[in-house]
Amino acid sequence: MSEYVLEMKNICKAFPGVQALNNANLSLKPGHVHALMGENGAGKSTLMKCLFGIYKKDSGQIIYQGQEINNRDPFEALNRGIAMVHQELLPIPDRTIAENIYVGRYPVKNIGPMKIIDHKKMYKDAQALLDELNLNFDAHAKLESLTASQMQLVEICKALSADAKIVILDEPTSSLTLKEVDKLFEIIRQLTDKGCGVIYISHKMDEILQISDEITIMRDGQYIGTWEASEMTTDMIIEKEVGRELKNLYPPKVNTPGEVVFEVKDFCSIHPHSFQHCSFEARDGEILGVAGLVGAQRTELMEAIMGLRGITSGEVYFKGKKLDIKSPSDAIKDGVTLLTEDRRGSGIFGVLSVGDNVGIASVNDYLKYRIMVDGKKINQIVDKSISELSIKTPSKKTQIQHLSGGNQQKVIISRWLAKDPEVLIMDEPTRGIDVGAKYEIYSIIGRLAKEGKTIIMVSSEMPELIGVCDRIMVMCEGQITGFVEGEDMNQEKIMELSTKFTK
Ligand SMILES: Nc1ncnc2c1ncn2[C@@H]1O[C@H](COP(=O)(O)OP(=O)(O)OP(=O)(O)O)[C@@H](O)[C@H]1O
Ligand SMILES: [Mg+2]
Repeated sequence: MSEYVLEMKNICKAFPGVQALNNANLSLKPGHVHALMGENGAGKSTLMKCLFGIYKKDSGQIIYQGQEINNRDPFEALNRGIAMVHQELLPIPDRTIAENIYVGRYPVKNIGPMKIIDHKKMYKDAQALLDELNLNFDAHAKLESLTASQMQLVEICKALSADAKIVILDEPTSSLTLKEVDKLFEIIRQLTDKGCGVIYISHKMDEILQISDEITIMRDGQYIGTWEASEMTTDMIIEKEVGRELKNLYPPKVNTPGEVVFEVKDFCSIHPHSFQHCSFEARDGEILGVAGLVGAQRTELMEAIMGLRGITSGEVYFKGKKLDIKSPSDAIKDGVTLLTEDRRGSGIFGVLSVGDNVGIASVNDYLKYRIMVDGKKINQIVDKSISELSIKTPSKKTQIQHLSGGNQQKVIISRWLAKDPEVLIMDEPTRGIDVGAKYEIYSIIGRLAKEGKTIIMVSSEMPELIGVCDRIMVMCEGQITGFVEGEDMNQEKIMELSTKFTK
């Protein structure tokens, strides 16, 4: 018997216009965590989808437990003991947690000649699974009662319920809190202790170095190599991903903040446990960071500014003039836009093309004779966006759902850039984005600030805020706990303010 539970050899897969995989390899040992890394569009998700039966590989071999297999669909994969938690989750919010865990493979019982769903068994098994993982959820609760990150843990349960030999986690932590990441890592260790092999995809270097045993790196659909995680450093991984040495993670600062132009005064949520008495100012040409732990209510505050949340008080001023914002469209009219954190839920239009997704917010600005869309102008904007942000897509007509996760994010960023806003609020703009593309996005942020735009950037990654921002506002439990700039802009100071009330 081979020492591997899974060997993928020379896997090739082409889509119209792209060779997504070009002789990709991956060998997984039982009981090991194997990280799969590479830039956006490198082919990581595609390789996993070929394994899981979502895509059919063009050529190559998949050897599982010593036998060559070919999963025709995910059910076949699950039956063989291969489970996958997707990068883009597809939860069914108005169904219970148990139903979500067992969707498509409900336990059945026979009543005479009839087969019916065995609800009792389903809830019992689901609850046992949740309890085993020390997740404090009721299997009968509707999925919508959970937060996005809790839903993700349910999704992981779903993978586990299949009693898998291999579990694939595609960017599982992108919306988890630090505590939940610990929980996930605990679950991963339970799995590997049982001999299960885990394939772990993430752009977060520290996590990769912490959890994985081996690392395989891909670039442009090709296999670059496999290394012991203990022999690797962040710099080495980046160099292998990008194919060259990357000297700086952050572009030099080019902007100089000017006058205060944007003022937010005394925002109070109608929910007592959400943000209260939040006031801040931002200057033109300034990049203001917003730090805090998940749950600090940063997103909620930004959404309230956009008119998306109920408030008992709160005023917004731009250049001294009070803005009357009751909905996002009012805000956009006044030049204030928000790039949302949850791109799948509120960001992308999956079946529309890349071009339409970029152009959609600007359509009204490019009307000819007030009714006809000026297709030529929109096309110019779309072409410019694709080249400026190096969006990896076969053409602007490709449906956005076919792009890699990070490239979808870039499309959404370019949509709001096309609006040419005065104040651009970005909520976790680089989530799921590889280092090279992050650099491009930071450069764009810097350039916009240099042009005099006000940028407000919410991020959970402190190094990124420190590397990019002029000033950082810190929140904890719905309150603004301080502002840091200059020498005070360091992790210790920010952490102290982020946890002011949580000790
Ligand atoms: N269904 C599809 N149709 C057309 N092209 C596709 C499809 N799925 C993936 N691709 C293309 O294949 C390439 C690899 O994409 P993939 O999603 O595997 O990248 P990835 O490594 O997972 O990136 P990310 O880190 O951004 O998630 C990309 O160029 C992508 O646009
Ligand atoms: Mg992916």
